[in-house]
Amino acid sequence: MKPDLYMPVPARIEAVIEETPNIKTFSVRPAEAMSFEAGQFIELTVPGVGEAPFTPSSSPAVKDHMEITIMRAGRVTDKLHSLAPGAEVGLRGPLGQRYPIESFRGREVVIVGGGVGLAPLRALLFALLQEVSSFKKIIIRYGAKTPRDIVFRDAVAKKWDQGDALDVLVTVDRGDDTWTGPVGVVTAILDEKNLRCDPKNGVAVVCGPPIMMKFATVALLKRGYPPESIYLSMEKNMSCGVGKCGHCRIGTQYACKDGPVFTYGSIQSVPKIWE
Ligand SMILES: Cc1cc2nc3c(=O)[nH]c(=O)nc-3n(C[C@H](O)[C@H](O)[C@H](O)COP(=O)(O)OP(=O)(O)OC[C@H]3O[C@@H](n4cnc5c(N)ncnc54)[C@H](O)[C@@H]3O)c2cc1C
Ligand code: FES
Repeated sequence: MKPDLYMPVPARIEAVIEETPNIKTFSVRPAEAMSFEAGQFIELTVPGVGEAPFTPSSSPAVKDHMEITIMRAGRVTDKLHSLAPGAEVGLRGPLGQRYPIESFRGREVVIVGGGVGLAPLRALLFALLQEVSSFKKIIIRYGAKTPRDIVFRDAVAKKWDQGDALDVLVTVDRGDDTWTGPVGVVTAILDEKNLRCDPKNGVAVVCGPPIMMKFATVALLKRGYPPESIYLSMEKNMSCGVGKCGHCRIGTQYACKDGPVFTYGSIQSVPKIWE
């Protein structure tokens, strides 16, 4: 392991976008170009507070800056949410394993996101859209708590400007006066009526809170996806981020080094994977 993996690269926040009442997207420019591939994560340091892992939400093709979409959850994210453009932070990475996009080619890709879990999936989507004709079809199923909690709202509404080429459906747990779409948790739109898919010739990629990932996986298995075709982003509690401290263990593997992207098939025998 390179020793400099522990050393953050200085970076400047260039823009802050309010996605929802508790989620912001930070556009960050590192002092040195820092590339990543969809699914990999970085450790973001807030000086004087600490660091936490996040998966960039922007296109992996953009090398000079990255966007990171962050929900306010605790110490580091509370402080981050108070920062304005111009503030200095640190970035360490990229860390972990990416989505194996080459093995998705020629297949249908179903993306299932919950809440801020759409952030890493947005980076994946940008990567897929770069070679959109390589895939049989790209389908997005996304669930948020309320209409106000939908991240990347404009892009979602405009189907990432792909029109009918992208099959997008969004559900909310609780609607409001403006909402005309489905109401219910995301698994409610993974049924035969709301998701026409080809499990034998497709992959499903899931990211969201553990409970959502658990029930989405159960629903996808029921629809006929083999465990090896379901890709999960396992956001385990982490510390070192580089396979040294053991905080993020999943059976004999480490989420930071061997993941965070795992097929369900590769971890399904490990007890309590959703905790
Ligand atoms: C690989 C990876 C990628 C991630 N990507 C994103 C992202 O793109 N956007 C985003 O908003 N968040 C993401 N997270 C989650 C984020 O790192 C945590 O919410 C982190 O704890 C926030 O740090 P904090 O200091 O603000 O909160 P803390 O003060 O550390 O903790 C807040 C609460 O969350 C709990 N907690 C900490 N980590 C986790 C976890 N992984 N799962 C469940 N509970 C946890 C703590 O026990 C505590 O109760 C990711 C996590 C991982 C491991
Ligand atoms: S976070 Fe230290 S081993 Fe994974």
